[in-house]
Amino acid sequence: MKFTSEQRRAIDMRQGSLLVSAGAGTGKTSVLVERFVRAVLDDGVAVDAILAITFTEKAAAQLTSRVRARLMALGARTEARRAEAAWISTIHGFCSRVLRTHALAAGIDPEFRVLDALESERLGIDAFDRALAEFVGAGEDPERLRLLGSYTPDRLADMVRTAYAHGRSRGDARPELPEAVPPRPAGELDALGAAVQAALVEIAAADGVAVSGARSKLERCAALVDRLGDGDVADAPELKELYFKGTAKALKGTACEEFRTAHDAYLALCVRHREYADHVLLRDLIGRHGRFYDSLKRARSGLDFDDLELLARDLLRGDAGLRSAYSERFAHVMVDEFQDTNPLQNEILDLLDRDNLFRVGDERQSIYRFRHADVKVFRRHRDQAADRRREQPITVNFRSRGEVLDAVDLIFGGVWGDGFEPLREAPDARSVAPRVAPCVELLVTDREKKRWDARFEAALEEGEAPFGASMRGITPWRAAEARLLARRIDELTTDGPYRPGDVVLLLRATTHIGVYERALEERGIPTYVLGGRGYWSQQQVADLRAYLAALANPLDELALHSVLASPLGGVSLDALVMVAAAARSAGWDVWRVVEAVAAIPAGGAAPEAVLAPEAVLALAGELPAADGRALRDFARRFA
Ligand SMILES: Nc1ncnc2c1ncn2[C@@H]1O[C@H](COP(=O)(O)OP(=O)(O)OP(=O)(O)O)[C@@H](O)[C@H]1O
Ligand SMILES: [Mg+2]
Repeated sequence: MKFTSEQRRAIDMRQGSLLVSAGAGTGKTSVLVERFVRAVLDDGVAVDAILAITFTEKAAAQLTSRVRARLMALGARTEARRAEAAWISTIHGFCSRVLRTHALAAGIDPEFRVLDALESERLGIDAFDRALAEFVGAGEDPERLRLLGSYTPDRLADMVRTAYAHGRSRGDARPELPEAVPPRPAGELDALGAAVQAALVEIAAADGVAVSGARSKLERCAALVDRLGDGDVADAPELKELYFKGTAKALKGTACEEFRTAHDAYLALCVRHREYADHVLLRDLIGRHGRFYDSLKRARSGLDFDDLELLARDLLRGDAGLRSAYSERFAHVMVDEFQDTNPLQNEILDLLDRDNLFRVGDERQSIYRFRHADVKVFRRHRDQAADRRREQPITVNFRSRGEVLDAVDLIFGGVWGDGFEPLREAPDARSVAPRVAPCVELLVTDREKKRWDARFEAALEEGEAPFGASMRGITPWRAAEARLLARRIDELTTDGPYRPGDVVLLLRATTHIGVYERALEERGIPTYVLGGRGYWSQQQVADLRAYLAALANPLDELALHSVLASPLGGVSLDALVMVAAAARSAGWDVWRVVEAVAAIPAGGAAPEAVLAPEAVLALAGELPAADGRALRDFARRFA
């Protein structure tokens, strides 16, 4: 591979920091690898004196093998071997390594366990459920029930967990909503009362439908104002109903106008009040969520990715000696996919920085916003680098054919407008004729529901499935799109030059992946689904993981419950609820209850030997026979 002059500059400028902001497939990662290798071979930097950071474990593994392969290719065997143990990892991987070495200084259990994304997600859900149960309590507080009713538990969970995670990604270990100031009334209610009376007088002599409607609203409004005591506020929806417009001439007078103004002002106050009340409640809920989440993690000696970063940040920030030891040990700090950095991660990079940071990224590939990556971090650094003339652009794309780049430039030039930097094609990007022309095709499906409904009206009325039984219940345009795509792929692989393995289907989300899979299978095209949520979250794998987690620690209730509910336990959900209730009322952990129940013979009374609280003994009698058997089998295998 011959590097371009732009790429060469980015590889060779190894004095001082440098930032490369460049589009997809322009060789950013290749340049980073080469820079790493050149620093080792040309400058004599030790392999373990370079810290290379990227944003997923998979990317880190790839980076390691690219560095090793390049060193091998250049005949540097010893260095290639050392690349295995190089500091090439995700940022939390780096933090984890630092914390293992300095656990005591960081004030943590040296045996800490890293909770992966899946596990911390599970704990987060559990923590929220507990927080919500505690928050609602016996359901005596109408305000809390109102919050629950107006947001629903799912949306509340989303809001609370998002706010919490967002706070942590900004470097806040225990994020809280700020204290809000209650809105201070400034006579809005009195003003409304007075305006109502004046308006009633103003329209007293008028008549007509609009006027009598307005009069009735004014009277209800007067009653509402009377009803409200000090400090009470009206319900916004109720208040909104009492508004009327100046449609009739009689309703255009000054007093009516003033009523409308006073109504608006008071309504705004009510809305601010409600927002304030919600804020206070949410603040409370987030606090509880954080406490439960912390205690669930503590029970497992577990640290999630954010914890690793937060603790490492605190350690490096608080200990000047350690900080300089780490920043001195790295001759270079290199960051791939820098656009996906969040402010906390950036803080850690800043702590290590001694004008030796090499960062590459592409703001248009900022895909981890849902993980609170903040593309502003990237932009700020890019602008600073440009000011200091420490930015190196790379503009030529080496990944795609020219025709594909034309299409990308055409489409995204329109989407992004002025800010769009077109991808330039490499000199040989069209030198080989494409096997199928044109290189880019658009298969367009009509997404207008109305037209599909009209087209299939008769069939739907007959209860038929217009796309056949296999697509029953699928949104028509999606079924049509899947079929269209499958037909084209069939043509390309049956009559055309390709094998099914040459085709990749990329989807925005995995939600409807099954529809596309089905359409392909109908044509006999074999499929291989990658992703969804990946290997570790496939149900069987998750079940086995839970089994191992419960074996390692039978007090891990989440894991134990998951195993019991899985085919490995075969216990019904109803029975699980009964077990959990018995455990709670006995003050025992779930595993102890399971063991005790297993020790009680089926149907028989409890032998003297089983000393168990009433609730547990009762449970043994109440469990459906099949569940009793399943629990006994499980306990025998598991013990
Ligand atoms: N100068 C070059 N000559 C030929 N091929 C190149 C050159 N530079 C990069 N490539 C090739 O282009 C492809 C993309 O390179 P690379 O993955 O490094 O790009 P990138 O900018 O990191 O991409 P992304 O934006 O996806 O992170 C690779 O196959 C690489 O080998
Ligand atoms: Mg890359």
